[in-house]
Amino acid sequence: MNTSVKGILLAGGSGTRLHPLTQAVNKHLLAVYDKPMIYYPLTALMLAGVRDITLISTPDALPQFRQVLGDGSRWGLTLTYRPQARPEGIAQAFRIAEEDIAGHRVALMLGDNILYGSGLPKQMRLAAERVEGATIFAYRVANPERFGVVTLDRAGQPLELVEKPQNPVSHWAVPGLYFYDQKVLEIAAALKPSARGELEITDVNRVYLERGQLRVELMGRGCAWLDSGTAESLFEATQFVRVFEERTGLKIASPEEVAYRMGYIALDQLRELARAQSKSSYGAYLAQLAQAEGEFNPAL
Ligand code: DAU
Repeated sequence: MNTSVKGILLAGGSGTRLHPLTQAVNKHLLAVYDKPMIYYPLTALMLAGVRDITLISTPDALPQFRQVLGDGSRWGLTLTYRPQARPEGIAQAFRIAEEDIAGHRVALMLGDNILYGSGLPKQMRLAAERVEGATIFAYRVANPERFGVVTLDRAGQPLELVEKPQNPVSHWAVPGLYFYDQKVLEIAAALKPSARGELEITDVNRVYLERGQLRVELMGRGCAWLDSGTAESLFEATQFVRVFEERTGLKIASPEEVAYRMGYIALDQLRELARAQSKSSYGAYLAQLAQAEGEFNPAL
């Protein structure tokens, strides 16, 4: 468990690319198949061993997030809520969460990113345990111009970082999950807005690159990285989750299941959470899980 790593879940922004869907509802509360989008990045942080998390969103959406996630205690988490008055860039998150993260290492995850794959939890845990520098990930995509892009040398060392390059020279996009040491706060404090007027996360990463302290972990082709910021990508994410869940009978990104498997809650608590949602197939899944786990453990 990484008690010294604080998490930030960034779920603000204007969601204009999803209008009219997001006129009244924050993007990160929309459904990705059978659960709210925010469950996916939240469980990624949980799997990385991060339990103390600040959720940042627009002032009007924060009460809804509170309603959906509560104080986190039912999943063995501590959740703090902070408003972002205007979407002035991803790196603004460090300034907003300053009080919560000062003196700690930080894991930042973007609220519209979905990561899935065997081996990923271990990769994330190792990144969270690294005491110095920053760790980002790289994932091969067909359309790198839509993302932050990293160029790597033959040994996998980062050479250059560019945010949404017009003519990308690399296929390696940088997913929205970043791990930093304590220095990230002062780096973010010194940042200037980019030409598009935002505090760019890519500029934070570039500072670590220039200091020789940026580590890039390749995400293998067995992993899935989806973002759900447009109607098309939201639909694709829903299809992906549905196909996987129907085929395997397992759920992707259930905070109850992850909390139980990570040892954040006990079997009794899992049973209780299942009971509270017994009318949905989601609750039935949890009940089945709790029952199977109980049978495995003759002491209970
Ligand atoms: O998805 C990964 C990509 O995310 C990275 O490869 C890019 O380097 C990074 O800049 C970012 O690019 P996007 O164009 O996808 O960022 P977007 O503005 O869509 O915001 C990503 C998430 O962060 C989204 O869930 C909304 C939230 N956000 C964004 C900004 C700029 C905020 O909550 N506040 C903000 O001020």
